[in-house]
Amino acid sequence: MSPFAHITGWGMAVPEKVLTNFELEQMVETTDEWIVSRTGIRERRIVSDDQTTASLATEASRRALEIAKINPGEIDLIIVSTSSPEYLFPATASLVQDRLGAVRAGAFDLLAACTGFIYGLNIATQAIRTGSIRTAIVIGAETLSRFVDWTDRDTCVLFGDGAGAFVLQAGEERAGLLSAVMRSDGSGGDLLYLPGGGSRYPTTIDTVNEGLHNIKMKGREVFRFATRVMAQATKEVVNKAQLSMDDIQLIIPHQANKRIIEVALKKLDFPMERCIVNLDRYGNTSTASIPIATCEAINDGRLKPGDHVVFVGFGGGLTWGAAVARWSGPFPGIKVVRPAFYSLYARLRSIINRVLRRIDAFILGRDNPYT
Ligand code: ACO
Repeated sequence: MSPFAHITGWGMAVPEKVLTNFELEQMVETTDEWIVSRTGIRERRIVSDDQTTASLATEASRRALEIAKINPGEIDLIIVSTSSPEYLFPATASLVQDRLGAVRAGAFDLLAACTGFIYGLNIATQAIRTGSIRTAIVIGAETLSRFVDWTDRDTCVLFGDGAGAFVLQAGEERAGLLSAVMRSDGSGGDLLYLPGGGSRYPTTIDTVNEGLHNIKMKGREVFRFATRVMAQATKEVVNKAQLSMDDIQLIIPHQANKRIIEVALKKLDFPMERCIVNLDRYGNTSTASIPIATCEAINDGRLKPGDHVVFVGFGGGLTWGAAVARWSGPFPGIKVVRPAFYSLYARLRSIINRVLRRIDAFILGRDNPYT
């Protein structure tokens, strides 16, 4: 029988710097009352100058590896879901691979906006289920504060920075992701997008002056779309897992807006007490919001082994999706892991590799195809 993909580790990383609604009142024409009543958000975290998408992703991953009790050398695949990558290329996932010292892992980025973490979980699960790999790490990481127009009150009050990671490992018992749906409707691409800096509008003085490097959003239309698809996708994915809504202990939705979550739950006739909402403290961290909310649910004792949990999200693309998981936790055992040692070794190894490439080029010549 094909193995299941157990979720055996989890970790989150958010910047220390808190930006409150009251501070935003000093920056744009808005009020704490407006933001709380329309969105539920009270504060969000913002990266400092030395923090990036890769640094948050690496921090969250190290915590997840510690919980799973595995060393980075055991990882076969790293997926970083992000809409705010470190560069267009190389992939942020490759930077994370290098910093973790995950010497055997393949690594790639996935862009499905806020739905990306669900897509990533499903792709990694399928790779484990076919036997192609045994261990993966899926990360949702964003620094959208770097892409927000801080003079645009329609968008700047919504977003926050952060990262969350899950470790997935092959296991015999029926656990981990049981079903998933992944959907897209590109006809709504212009409802939420960042036009500049890609191949369509490469960066020029004009694109910068026109603010094309900032997030553009038609909030009301995204709101309508979100409330429609969240309930639909949840019903579909629960059906696909051959379960009913009564079998679901917890829903962990994408944390964009409390009102969107309330409307979706009402359509599902599902109680708010069995749903995780932490957007009041982090705002919309896009694809990082589901793993961050999951980490907090576990720490608060709200998600336990044996529980069935639904992850459901929506976002730019347009994209949306959902997954049902049977929660299990780390595999038993008292294996010693040394994340601090690995971090140090990974750094050293990376430096040595760079130096070796330069020495090779010097000795063998820059035209040598093997350097
Ligand atoms: N402070 C004060 N007033 C504001 C602010 C603000 N920060 N922002 C907008 N307003 C004003 C508008 O200008 C408008 O004024 P007008 O009536 O004079 O034109 C008024 O408030 C109402 O605006 P609406 O757009 O109708 O407000 P709404 O109740 O729809 O709330 C919001 C806006 C919060 C953006 C909501 O539509 C929403 O959450 N939409 C979904 C957005 C979302 O989830 N995006 C992320 C998707 S995930 C991803 O892929 C990253």
